Amino acid sequence: MLEIFGGHAILPGGISKGISVAVKDSKMVDIGKTIELRKKYRFSDSIGSDKWTISPGFIDAHLHSSQHMAIGKVKSAKLLDWLKAIWKWEGEMTKTDAKKCAGQTYSELAAAGVTSFVDYTSVRHTEEAFKVAEKMGLRATIGKTMMDRNSIPELLEDTDQSLKETEQLIRRWHKKAGGRLRYSITPRFAITCTDELLFGAIGLSRKYKTMITTHAHENTKEVAYDKRIYGKSAILHYNDIGLLGKNTLLVHGVWLSKKELSVLAKTKTSMVHCPGSNFMLKSGCSPIGKIMKAGIKLGLGSDIGAYKNVSPFDQMKLAIRMQKQNGKTLNPKLAFYLVTQGSADAIGLGKETGSLEIGKKADVLLLDIDAKSSIASIVNASTKSVKKTIANGKLVFDGEYE
Ligand code: GUN
Ligand code: FE
Repeated sequence: MLEIFGGHAILPGGISKGISVAVKDSKMVDIGKTIELRKKYRFSDSIGSDKWTISPGFIDAHLHSSQHMAIGKVKSAKLLDWLKAIWKWEGEMTKTDAKKCAGQTYSELAAAGVTSFVDYTSVRHTEEAFKVAEKMGLRATIGKTMMDRNSIPELLEDTDQSLKETEQLIRRWHKKAGGRLRYSITPRFAITCTDELLFGAIGLSRKYKTMITTHAHENTKEVAYDKRIYGKSAILHYNDIGLLGKNTLLVHGVWLSKKELSVLAKTKTSMVHCPGSNFMLKSGCSPIGKIMKAGIKLGLGSDIGAYKNVSPFDQMKLAIRMQKQNGKTLNPKLAFYLVTQGSADAIGLGKETGSLEIGKKADVLLLDIDAKSSIASIVNASTKSVKKTIANGKLVFDGEYE
């Protein structure tokens, strides 16, 4: 049995002093005072420091590993122009590139304290990302991007082919590696997906009980485009065709009306806030206070390559800053919640991960931070404070990442 110990630990009830977590295989089997746990168990291995803080693993609820190689290479632009440049990158991507991108992204995630993530690959080479995730040990939800209209020729798919490839990937990877890997059906966004494709996606999601994730209401021009196509917003259209629900994760939600918020709440649809991406692409500031008040599950995502790195510390700080710039507040405790339990609930893993609780998976961090009594000290820290990352009971990052 493995012991993870720290001077402090961030438990669901608050910060506690002198805590140990007992880990057996992939799970946390006990959590308590270090003195007591050491009397109770004979640990075969022990990691930690009295100077460090134990934290639940962070969750990146939305990113694009396939865009890793394009980070910083696309000049400043708003969403629709930025996408044209990004698609060029994705269109040229080889199988080797995809493997490299996933390897780099997932190593950086582990080093940044991320133990679970949701990754949109491009339209091809999704199996490379799964293979890397299988080997590296992170809790991964991955999907192949689907686009059957308004794309560039290199990425444009035939509707049936896109659905067929998606189904093959689901059969190969969904719930594999002891349930650590999941498939998510991933239509890119309304502009690039026909209803035929979306109906097919809904059917597959029901057949195989997978999540569906797609971008929505990120940018004003995108929202206007959707209204031209459907005569209403994408979210209201999705409601009409049955795409919304507890297994659906919508990304961004910067521009939302009262009616759309109520539809999302009623259908129990989840959302991801990507403050770094919204900042870089000048998309606007998401009304996350209203989203949470409506009872909609909300997580945080880095959305690389729109943002420049996968640091959850950056996303927590930016979430707070963007709200402040818009006359709203987000306190550090809530920012930390969004990147842990909030994201876990939003991606449908709330019972497995997101907090330090007995019976949950051992997705645990050791941070070189003296948390004392303040979660703000975590939010204000940097990626460098991550000393060890344990995912599913296994050490996936140890020490410095060059
Ligand atoms: N909307 C559709 N595709 C994308 C993407 O790749 N990134 C972002 N930020 N928004 C999108
Ligand atoms: Fe995205």
